[in-house]
Amino acid sequence: MPPEVIHSASFVEDAVSIILASARQAIAERGIFRVSLSGGRTPAPIYSRWAASAGDLPWDRVQITFGDERCVPPDDEQSNYLMARRTLLDTVPIPEGNVFRIRGEIAPADAAAEYDARLAQVASRFGEPRYQHDLLLLGMGPDGHTASLFPGTEALAEQTRNVVSNFVPKLNAWRVTFTYPLLNAARHVCFLLEGPDKKPIVDQILAGQGNYPSEGVKPTDGQLTWLLGT
Ligand code: 6PG
Repeated sequence: MPPEVIHSASFVEDAVSIILASARQAIAERGIFRVSLSGGRTPAPIYSRWAASAGDLPWDRVQITFGDERCVPPDDEQSNYLMARRTLLDTVPIPEGNVFRIRGEIAPADAAAEYDARLAQVASRFGEPRYQHDLLLLGMGPDGHTASLFPGTEALAEQTRNVVSNFVPKLNAWRVTFTYPLLNAARHVCFLLEGPDKKPIVDQILAGQGNYPSEGVKPTDGQLTWLLGT
């Protein structure tokens, strides 16, 4: 299935429309909406708008995971979880047990292993070989990284585990990240990108000319969307 490329003049609204449509379909078909949140700055206004416009969403049927996390405590300004709490999680009635937080405050390898096990537990309940997200939101950095799959880092080569710790030399920091097998198991992956600085990379990726980590996101049996804000 070729990627869907949407050039949007209403980036936040269009992103929320994609999220809500995916939620309605998943809940109608399977009784649950399993969605992964991306980190960074871009998604913050999207999550806020989602929270404000999803009054009728049955939040007890929503399960939230995180595509990656910085290895910091959950109250650290760097935490992707903290950003999601402030913009979405603290403002909607989602049961705490439905939010799968990556424990950035413990040893990275331990945090990755426990998260991998938690996803595997849910996958086995669904009879899935690995956890299958209904919608997996991703961002992309100016170096073409996505989640915490940075150029030249070890996690790019992982083909078995779903979640690993990954040392990022350019940041001199550890991250916990989804791997390609988990990303590509999703029913729908949506990149949310805004700003001119990323356009050259997106153009290369869409032309099949780049060699960036984001290019490795190719859902095996799912849809890939690039939502590009102006
Ligand atoms: C993170 C993200 C990362 C992010 C990109 C884009 O933890 O930083 O998961 O992959 O999506 O770096 O970040 P911006 O949206 O801030 O440009």
